[in-house]
Amino acid sequence: MPMLSPTSRGQLSQAVLDALRSGGTSLLDDAPEPDNTEDAQLALWTMYEQHHGGFDDISDDLEWDPHVLGVRRRLEQDFEQTLRQRAPQAPEPGDFAETFFDFVADHEGPSLSAHVHRSATEAQVREFLRHKSIYHLKESDHTTWVVPRLSGPVKAAVMELQYDEYGAGNPNRLHATMFADGLHASDLESAYGAYINEAPVEILEQNNVMSMFGLNRRLRAASLGFLAAFETTSSVPSRRIAQGLDRLGFPPEMIEYYTEHVEADAVHEQLAVRTICGVLIEEEPALYDDVYFGAWTSMDLEDRYAHRMLEEWAA
Ligand SMILES: [Fe+2]
Ligand SMILES: [Fe+2]
Repeated sequence: MPMLSPTSRGQLSQAVLDALRSGGTSLLDDAPEPDNTEDAQLALWTMYEQHHGGFDDISDDLEWDPHVLGVRRRLEQDFEQTLRQRAPQAPEPGDFAETFFDFVADHEGPSLSAHVHRSATEAQVREFLRHKSIYHLKESDHTTWVVPRLSGPVKAAVMELQYDEYGAGNPNRLHATMFADGLHASDLESAYGAYINEAPVEILEQNNVMSMFGLNRRLRAASLGFLAAFETTSSVPSRRIAQGLDRLGFPPEMIEYYTEHVEADAVHEQLAVRTICGVLIEEEPALYDDVYFGAWTSMDLEDRYAHRMLEEWAA
């Protein structure tokens, strides 16, 4: 299935899509303001996607087009500023791992995994899987962008984690491939990006923040903090989701993606917190606040998605 560019959600995303599809990118120097957050986030997602798999209806030559990058930069700055304004102060430095695990444990947010575990309907879970496919089908790729920007010890630890995420040498065991197999077995579309037009703004924000942190060297600590919080909040929810999928009779391939993450992420969280972020902070103490900024962003954006879906499903 070809990967086609998405449907616009406002005048800015329309202008970006028109420019990219036609190649007439100089028009973007007078690009309109976004109509709203969703319009801005879809425009940003489309531009970031050029650095991932790209689109069949957009020329690869435009990946580093200066007019496109100008719009991207403006949207990134607004997005980063919004996130930084929302983020709390980092906790007082102490034992890094202990402080970090407490920070994550003390965070309170709505739980989608508890809903999936006990009471979600099959239709709700299928919607959840379609939304999550936007990330899981390119799982971990954003972290790979950070690798060349790290010292030897941190790089080695990130690669140990990434080796697992990419299947440890087995092409059937890449987490992204396992998710695709799960979708396929569940009679859902497993082609990357197939469900972008129904992705809510919170899903676009989650995906965009990962790309933004990964593609900007100065945000490398935020990217690794994001990773550490993501891994730390994955193992227990993955078990709940696996049990929920089992309760609803989903196929074993879909369940296996989540059971794989129960074990794997219990290991990954230790690696990400102690050997990745802990060592990074020892080497570069000035990056401390950004590790927490990234960690908080990971939890906050998942809360926002959970909040939206629980409200929609309750209605
Ligand atoms: Fe994974
Ligand atoms: Fe993981």
